[in-house]
Amino acid sequence: MCGIVGYTGSQEAAPIMLDGLRRLEYRGYDSAGIVISGDGGLRLCKAKGYVENLSNLIGGGALMKGGTGIGHTRWATHGKPSDENAHPHISYGGKIAIVHNGIIENYAKLRDMLIAKGVQFKSETDTEVACNLIQYFYDGDILKAVSEAALRLEGSYALGIVCEDFPDTLLAVRKESPLVLGVGKDGNFLASDVAAILQHTRDVYYLDDDEIAVVTPRSIKFYAAGLVETEKELSRVDWDISAAEKGGYEHFMFKEIMEQPEAVRKTLSPRIKDGRVLLDDVRFDPDYLKSLSRIYIVGCGSAYHVGVVAKYNLEKLLRIPVEACLASEFRYASPLVGDKTLVICISQSGMTADTIAAMRESKRLGARVLSIVNVVGSVIANESDDVIYTWAGPEIAVATTKAYSTQLAVTYLIGLYMADILGTITKDEYDALVRGLLELPSKLEKILSSKEQVQYLASIYFNKENIFFIGRNIDYALTLESSLKLKEISYIHSDAYAAGELKHGTISLIEDGTLVIAMASYTQLIDKTVSNIVEVKSRGAEILTLTTESGVASVAHTSDNIITIPDTHEVLLPSLAVVPMQLFSYYVALMRGCSIDKPRNLAKSVTVE
Ligand code: F6R
Repeated sequence: MCGIVGYTGSQEAAPIMLDGLRRLEYRGYDSAGIVISGDGGLRLCKAKGYVENLSNLIGGGALMKGGTGIGHTRWATHGKPSDENAHPHISYGGKIAIVHNGIIENYAKLRDMLIAKGVQFKSETDTEVACNLIQYFYDGDILKAVSEAALRLEGSYALGIVCEDFPDTLLAVRKESPLVLGVGKDGNFLASDVAAILQHTRDVYYLDDDEIAVVTPRSIKFYAAGLVETEKELSRVDWDISAAEKGGYEHFMFKEIMEQPEAVRKTLSPRIKDGRVLLDDVRFDPDYLKSLSRIYIVGCGSAYHVGVVAKYNLEKLLRIPVEACLASEFRYASPLVGDKTLVICISQSGMTADTIAAMRESKRLGARVLSIVNVVGSVIANESDDVIYTWAGPEIAVATTKAYSTQLAVTYLIGLYMADILGTITKDEYDALVRGLLELPSKLEKILSSKEQVQYLASIYFNKENIFFIGRNIDYALTLESSLKLKEISYIHSDAYAAGELKHGTISLIEDGTLVIAMASYTQLIDKTVSNIVEVKSRGAEILTLTTESGVASVAHTSDNIITIPDTHEVLLPSLAVVPMQLFSYYVALMRGCSIDKPRNLAKSVTVE
């Protein structure tokens, strides 16, 4: 969603911000803006649409001279995408400009209060309310004004602020929305995401909730509640800038698909030693594990789909009821959560509003929360009882691929670790699964090396307008992810069904030429799935089947085309089967000329409910 980048130092700020904003484009946005603070006061430029529009208006930055400024990409919440609603916003007194990520929940009340005091508003945004509130408290002490305003703001926010009276100073304050401060050679930085400033510095401070940072070219100071100055620890970002660049690939999504063998290796190999799974990240007491009556797995979108795979696998391995829940539904469904419940939250960003809410509700009800997160220091990582990081590196494409694969890999580790403690797995089974895990990266490489076959299949089917995915058990879980991937980037309508369910209604939609993609990797149920394939084939459907090398013979006579993946332990099949489906979605979207890394209406990190 929205992105923030700010700079104060001896360089020209505008080009630095334009570059930073381009690096934040992946988050999804609909307008962009920039403010420069200097001896001439505050100068503002904002534009609906891409950062390129903004850049053209200011001559690539050359028309806005000055060493201090803040830029923003906005994903509309309050008020439509427009020049007026774009950030930064300037206060009624003209002295203060701010950019904002998040949502101010009590903005209407505050707006009414300010209007009653005679303040006039130019936009429909909650951000302008925050800006005017700071101006309202401003009496020459900008730190105090920001603190007073922040005390009255409810909701989630990351604010970047400049004040005309302090031309080389940036201020930042946050609550439940991330902000980092970067220490550079020729100045200091402010950003909502390290990707925006990584080309300048890897030395960053992570701002905590309710903390205020005051940034000048030579210093960064932090203030906690009551404006007490605090010391913070400098962190070093260890991923390389190339990880957040395309590196010769046409799209981030394709690059991230290709990175999966390495990403999964990084997730797994440090946690498997001498044939044993070591989860140093979690501290589970065996008695606690034995007392568990239920596990909930909570997430949104693809993270939820990982949960659906894990539900099948964990129930099989642990013999405990496991439920996969959509985070947006979870807390309003009176979940049966208590101290004998483990809640596993899955989130790449660690910032998804619904998953955060589900996590907090689970903790409030007494559950222990284990999270599977990619972004270090994110809200979910910070607030969970235990965190297992996926170590997938930055994921830039909106459509997740390597995060999905690494999250899945972590669920296998959790399954093995817990099954071992609970005594629900035999030694042979444990060893076979560990062997399978260690072989996953090379099998993923093998699948990727035959990507041209998937590209060819995409060229046959890319002009379909309705596609149905069917599968049973873990293959059904996989249809959910395959269908989501396809529709989010290619805009083709598709649906995912448990294969046995079609004849209870949906089969009426099958007609001559309808494409049905059958996931038939799960050997135990392959014959059942073949029966369902026959049902749709005899009603005119074209069949593309995904199966394992040993499954080909079972599906050959009923399929028009087949995608084959290597055999592996049945628990691990989704890790291999998802990759051809990611490639299929990618190639189909490419052939349809879609905006692959930034699909319409979508944002990378969904920080609103
Ligand atoms: C789909 C996709 C989304 C995310 C979902 C959760 O390709 O990326 O469905 O999986 O928005 O995001 P995180 O994992 O950041 O909580």
